Amino acid sequence: MIIDGKKLSIEFIKEVKEEVETLKKQGKSIGLSVILIGEYPPSLIYVKNKEKKAKEAGIISEVIKYPNEVSENEVLNKIEELNQNSKVSGILVQLPLPGHIKKEKIINAINPLKDVDGFHPINVGNLASGTNAITPCTPLGCLYLIKSVENNLEGKHAVILGRSNLNGKPMAQLLLKENCTVTITHSKTKDLKSECKKADILVAAVGVKELVKGDWIKKGAIVIDVGINKSNGKIIGDVEFDSSKVMAKAITPVPGGVGPMTIACLLKNTLECFKKTSL
Ligand code: GUN
Repeated sequence: MIIDGKKLSIEFIKEVKEEVETLKKQGKSIGLSVILIGEYPPSLIYVKNKEKKAKEAGIISEVIKYPNEVSENEVLNKIEELNQNSKVSGILVQLPLPGHIKKEKIINAINPLKDVDGFHPINVGNLASGTNAITPCTPLGCLYLIKSVENNLEGKHAVILGRSNLNGKPMAQLLLKENCTVTITHSKTKDLKSECKKADILVAAVGVKELVKGDWIKKGAIVIDVGINKSNGKIIGDVEFDSSKVMAKAITPVPGGVGPMTIACLLKNTLECFKKTSL
């Protein structure tokens, strides 16, 4: 079975849109502000997609663009202005940032209640302690994709490739909360293949083209491919799709798997932030 992330994302966005419309009828408006620094080509594409889908859902979306040379202070001042602006429900600073701007300083400046990415230490801490966190969009999207195949994940062995703050670590927290037994693997893990082979649920988020081969996958596993890698003008994942789909019970394609769900979850998070600050 191929998991259709596009289709699932359309259902999610429809739900968000319905809720946004109800709120609009009550005179409320939901706003998402995205800060984009520089011209990193993947970021330009991601931000354009985020803006387009936000508008589709009735969310008022603005992209604030800065040249690569913008000072850290100018960005911090803008974040403070957005924190204070009651029309702005969610703030997202697209990563990566230029070298002279400290990521931690920027993330820490965002009001945690408007932190649609769930990257602020308060949200990271809330996720780790299992309470009421705004959850990073990509792992949240992955969880919904997994649950579209199997709702009860209790006792499953989940293996995550990658330990990033954006994906691997929050993914592990979410799967722990679902009562999975979780292994996080990374570039220093010995015998990655044998670790992967134990997985009932495999989430690949390392950014290495087709690292995971079909013979790394346990028969009947659920395989989620977070990778977005360019290869000869095509986008391919971290999982070798053709050899893996014959082993997996269910697998996400790239593109059309995790990507659309990341955006759908961003819109869901924006709505959640609105509720936290305005209701
Ligand atoms: N760059 C790549 N993925 C993301 C994301 O989920 N959020 C932000 N802010 N930047 C990113």
